[in-house]
Amino acid sequence: MASAAKPVLKWAGGKGRLLPELLTRLPHDFQAYHEPFIGGGALFFALAEAGRVGQAHLSDANQSLIDVYLALRDSVDEVIVALHGHVYEREHYYRVRALRPAELSLPERAARVIYLNKTCYNGLYRENRRGEFNVPFGRYKNPTICDEPNLRAAARVLRGVDVAQRHFSTVLDYARPGDFVYFDPPYHPLSPTANFTAYDRAGFGSDDQRQLRDVFAALGERGVRAMLSNSDTPFVRELYDGFRIEQVWVARAVNSRAGGRGKVAEVLVRND
Ligand SMILES: C[S@@+](CC[C@H](N)C(=O)[O-])C[C@H]1O[C@@H](n2cnc3c(N)ncnc32)[C@H](O)[C@@H]1O
Repeated sequence: MASAAKPVLKWAGGKGRLLPELLTRLPHDFQAYHEPFIGGGALFFALAEAGRVGQAHLSDANQSLIDVYLALRDSVDEVIVALHGHVYEREHYYRVRALRPAELSLPERAARVIYLNKTCYNGLYRENRRGEFNVPFGRYKNPTICDEPNLRAAARVLRGVDVAQRHFSTVLDYARPGDFVYFDPPYHPLSPTANFTAYDRAGFGSDDQRQLRDVFAALGERGVRAMLSNSDTPFVRELYDGFRIEQVWVARAVNSRAGGRGKVAEVLVRND
């Protein structure tokens, strides 16, 4: 039997742990599925495997991430070949890290991101201000660099899916009444010092959060159902005042320095 597609990359803010809470709050049926902050795509893969996704539009601001999905969708064999050229070894890691993505083919770029993600410290993708991947080599016991069954499963569910690098607000150009949108933006920080927004060079500030709320509201007015996750802060509650807000508790894994380990409160907001 073919394996079920799971996220290919470990991504900051991955929604694996929140999946049960998300799944119970989805509309029973919808036309197209949109995810404008796709990240690791935990919800998309779960829904696609459950046969609940027909047409889908996946996007993110991060081009390196989008390259991975495009390459898996269109040339999974080449990605697998390129991954077989990578080994878990410090010198090789730093050589691959130093490669310029623009000088590689799409499958090679995707294999580079997957390889670095599997072998870097903490397994998290992070770019510096110049857009370079700058995470040091990580210590693992025999990491799986090429999970061929899962890469093929991901390629299968990505077939026919619209995947592109774009700003979240472009969902307004694609979503039609009856569609469903799940927004998982970079979270509003729990405290001013919490370094929880550095997903990419651009960052994601209060103005972005406000613009996102306006997009969320505009979709509702058009008959497009939307659900959004964010941290439970007074700012977020004020932004979504008037919408259906529910608190959920999530076990914390990454970036736990900011608020200590344990559970954190998050909110799920719906526009219907
Ligand atoms: C919390 S992560 C998404 C996690 C994902 N849902 C998962 O399950 O792994 C947020 C994503 O937003 C992306 N992002 C940041 N600013 C953006 C923008 N203006 N438009 C679209 N995506 C953006 C980041 O690249 C990052 O992948």
